[in-house]
Amino acid sequence: MERAQVVIVGGGPSGLLLGQLLARSGVDAVLLERHTPEYVLGRIRAGVLEQTTVDLVRQAGVADHMDSAGLPHDGFDLCFDGQRHRVDLHALTGRRVMVYGQTDLTRDLMHARQQAGLRTVYEAEDVALEGWDGTQPRVTYVHAGQRHEISCDFIAGCDGFHGVCRASVPTERIKLHEKVYPFGWLGLLADVPPVSHELIYVRHERGFALCSQRSRTRSRYYLQCSLQDRVENWSDDAFWAEMAARLPAASAASLVTGPSLEKSIAPLRSFVAEPMRFGRLFLAGDAAHIVPPTGAKGLNLAASDVAYLWEALDAHYRGDGSGIEHYSARALSRVWKAERFSWWMTQLMHHFPDQGSFAERMQHAELEYLIGSPAALTALAENYVGLPF
Ligand code: APR
Ligand code: PHB
Repeated sequence: MERAQVVIVGGGPSGLLLGQLLARSGVDAVLLERHTPEYVLGRIRAGVLEQTTVDLVRQAGVADHMDSAGLPHDGFDLCFDGQRHRVDLHALTGRRVMVYGQTDLTRDLMHARQQAGLRTVYEAEDVALEGWDGTQPRVTYVHAGQRHEISCDFIAGCDGFHGVCRASVPTERIKLHEKVYPFGWLGLLADVPPVSHELIYVRHERGFALCSQRSRTRSRYYLQCSLQDRVENWSDDAFWAEMAARLPAASAASLVTGPSLEKSIAPLRSFVAEPMRFGRLFLAGDAAHIVPPTGAKGLNLAASDVAYLWEALDAHYRGDGSGIEHYSARALSRVWKAERFSWWMTQLMHHFPDQGSFAERMQHAELEYLIGSPAALTALAENYVGLPF
């Protein structure tokens, strides 16, 4: 039987970042990922990093590319009634965000793990957890047709929403909270310059739209779509025409269109599993919670979980076990605040299929109040740049 101090299940951003930080603390961790590196890098996700996430990536020693290619943003635009209103994050909070794609960050982390020679198994099939409720957890898996078994002190469940770790916990020990929204986001990635140097969040009666970016030459756009929509039914031309219809005329006129590199539809969901620790099994990132992408919080919440878990495990191996006891409560306190913000921004900006005129007026009144009130704008901005951890 093999041996490791920690087995990390899942090689997305959560698992990779945790692995890097644990290596800095001298903790020996093996990472098991079900898919190939190429598959993991093929998933396009959000690209807005809070300052605390940026700081953590620097602490992990993987910040070189992010610091040279990432774009610091001091604000974004909220658009409704055909007008753009700037939210000056820096003036309101003294902080800013960094636009840097999750795919790039994942690639940097994979590269660093490989350079450091840390034990990693891609295409690990049939991962199963045992003994996590006692003192001697074990993880089994199959690789290249051979069964392996690792005995460990702790298991870090970083295996995303569909992973095996949360699913291994008996239903009576876990409470699930969920809200499914009646629409999705159709995303398009293209090598065209962004329509604006900052992000634009658009509320429109045809549906929400978002203009985002990956660099000065690569754009990421989103359209609210129906859950019945299929990506095959959206030609690039149809996408660009719909984007132009939801933008103010001046922005639509300067929209640079081009062939898509990727197009996909994602449903919107809020989800939290409580607690986030079961004996010697910890959940982190999407394995424990999902936010709708409207507030760009998914990756940042994964980062704060990982920071708390790293601190807890680091303290444990230095003789202080109290961090482990507190991990779940600490993480969930921040998770619920980000869930609230993501839900709030989602319901503020989207067109709901059965929304009556009253709900529509409420959204409008809230947006008008927001842009006229420094207090309300500051509340938005401090959540957007990220609550401290
Ligand atoms: N065994 C091994 N690996 C698994 C298993 C399994 N049974 N099940 C899932 N995985 C792997 C997936 O293949 C994936 O690479 O776990 C990884 C989980 O990665 P993510 O889904 O990216 O989750 P996480 O690392 O927590 O990242 C959170 O990513 O999904 C976005 O919005 C989210 O930005 C947030 C961030
Ligand atoms: C993205 O760039 O993909 C992105 C940015 C901001 C969001 C969501 C997604 O709120």
